[in-house]
Amino acid sequence: MTKVEPVTPVESAEPARAGRSRRRRIASLGVLVAALGTIATLYAGLAPAASSASNNDPAIQAGRQLFLQGCSTCHGLNAEGGARAPSLIGVGAAAVDFQVGTGRMPAQAHGPEMPRKRPVYDETQIQELATYVASLGAGPAIPTNLDYQSADVAYGGALFRTNCAQCHNFAGSGGALTYGKYAPSLSDATPRQIYEAMITGPENMPVFGDKQITPPEKLAIIDYVKTIKAEPNPGGAGLGRVGPVTETAVSWLVGIGGLVIITMWIGSKA
Ligand code: HEC
Ligand code: HEC
Repeated sequence: MTKVEPVTPVESAEPARAGRSRRRRIASLGVLVAALGTIATLYAGLAPAASSASNNDPAIQAGRQLFLQGCSTCHGLNAEGGARAPSLIGVGAAAVDFQVGTGRMPAQAHGPEMPRKRPVYDETQIQELATYVASLGAGPAIPTNLDYQSADVAYGGALFRTNCAQCHNFAGSGGALTYGKYAPSLSDATPRQIYEAMITGPENMPVFGDKQITPPEKLAIIDYVKTIKAEPNPGGAGLGRVGPVTETAVSWLVGIGGLVIITMWIGSKA
């Protein structure tokens, strides 16, 4: 009976040690599963097109149905493009959200311009169309969290004058381009649409990539466009709303120019 005493602790230590190593094995399995999960998530994030193209996400299916009914006559049954319209493979969700959200698409007829109209589809349908087109090839996603109000308006104004004013005019009120094309007024565009126009470059507008105009700079531009829209016109002749510089220039040219002409006219009479 005296020998039982030391045996008991050994017997009880044995399962404890086995339990510890089993727990360790479970823990390392957990780490492995977590690591695989992370890799899968990263992969899905990096290659959205590859992972979603073949799945049967209901939004993709719904978008495809809408596409077949409303868009395929011009863009082709698989958005591959055709004689009437370009391919949409790789244009991204942002291009669809912009084009359909501004009512440009579905186009009625191909003229020199695709004007802004009342959207034909509602927000959910636009999302479905965008999801479907995005599933065909990677492209710019619909921008979110556009916290433009905290951006620097003055900097946005400077960026706007360098990058956008040559087509949209200093006040964002639009202007004529060559070949009968027209850059529209920006007053109806929502912040999201302004961002999308920059990243997708509709029609004759260039694409402004994130290297050319960084995301914070894009927000500053949006802030500026929204500010000039909100500001009431201070009065006086429009003069493109460039401000005191044009006003002074115009008074100089008209005023001094007029005086010079009058002086020359008086001189020629003498
Ligand atoms: C009547 C023919 C027609 C129909 C219908 C039509 N489109 Fe288009 N779409 C065009 C043409 C033409 C262009 C090129 C316009 C341009 O160059 O500005 C275009 C351009 C686009 C673009 C821009 C592509 C890019 O490179 O950025 C998108 C996105 C688009 N269409 C989506 C749609 C969707 C979605 C539908 C259905 C809701 C649709 N379109 C219906 C003719 C059509
Ligand atoms: C080379 C001329 C050009 C430049 C530069 C340009 N745009 Fe555009 N923009 C256009 C044209 C043309 C359209 C109309 C495209 C269409 O109808 O498909 C347009 C459309 C837009 C729209 C859509 C307006 C609406 O409500 O439908 C926005 C917003 C916009 N541009 C913002 C900008 C901003 C911001 C910049 C500067 C970062 C800029 N554009 C630079 C030519 C230009």
